[in-house]
Amino acid sequence: MITMVPKAELHCHLEGAASPDLVRKLAARHAVTLPAETFDADGNFAWDDFLHFLKVYDIASSVIRTPEDYRDVTYQYLMDCAAEGAIYVEVMSSPDHAAAVGMSYTDHLEGIAAGIEDARSESGIEGRIIVTCVRHLGPERGVEVARQVVANPHKLVTGFGMGGDENAFEPRDFAPAFGIVHATGLPCTVHAGEVAGAQSVRAALEALPVQRLGHGVRAMEDPELVRELADRGIVLEVCPGSNIATGVYGSYSDHPLLELRAAGCRITLNSDDPPYFDTTIGREYDRASAVFGFDDASLREVTLTAIEAAFVDEETRENLRQKVVA
Ligand code: HPA
Ligand code: ZN
Repeated sequence: MITMVPKAELHCHLEGAASPDLVRKLAARHAVTLPAETFDADGNFAWDDFLHFLKVYDIASSVIRTPEDYRDVTYQYLMDCAAEGAIYVEVMSSPDHAAAVGMSYTDHLEGIAAGIEDARSESGIEGRIIVTCVRHLGPERGVEVARQVVANPHKLVTGFGMGGDENAFEPRDFAPAFGIVHATGLPCTVHAGEVAGAQSVRAALEALPVQRLGHGVRAMEDPELVRELADRGIVLEVCPGSNIATGVYGSYSDHPLLELRAAGCRITLNSDDPPYFDTTIGREYDRASAVFGFDDASLREVTLTAIEAAFVDEETRENLRQKVVA
């Protein structure tokens, strides 16, 4: 079952959206042999905790080597989302992953943009790009990525963010990187409150000019912080399937999505790294219905929240809104 409520996704790592089959196809395209332990006996990605996941993710991403590869990953992911009823998707790109295989910032961007344009003309889905830096690679690399963003303005690059290991460095170390991008008017988001607790969320909010948080769910550990998130209208890019897969919570009954929502926090539903976490945007909506008891009206509200918080121009936002309320 995939509910046909219109859906929007604000939090998906592009490299993490490539299916095992596509990764194997790209490996063959470049005559690369991936370590056997990249996959399990069923051919799925094999990893056993968050940091190991980040390593396997890096290895699998290393077969995305050309603009055409990035185009194919983007196109396939957006078409899959469209088939599940998604009308809008923001993909997080990682110039550091592209650079690791010798691809320039502009080449990786061109490939992704081609995938977005091709998927839009075939399915009508809208896509935008959030360029992200990788926290555990450190602040200097973050500044380098930020400089590339502002030196190469692109109509589909509408935001800036940061993923990676939340326990590495401090948010304030990345204030220069975020400042460079934010000064040009691009909105920002950052992973916080996923593998670290409320203090990590607080530190991110204090140091970085963000209006959304990737995950943010562990803010729940500090009621005052939850109130602040609600008061400030900070939008949470919640990824329940990811949180269960990585062990942030042991079960859906431990997941704070409903409490955060009841406390007035703005909630969206997202897939994060779909094939790694055995999920898709459609399955996240289905699970919100089956596990958290959301009816269709509540799911539409989730989509509207995502559209309100989307990093898009106002005309596109209004067009998307019309598709949800129609
Ligand atoms: N969390 C943090 N960083 C990431 C993730 C994630 O789920 N996926 C890729 N980079
Ligand atoms: Zn993420």
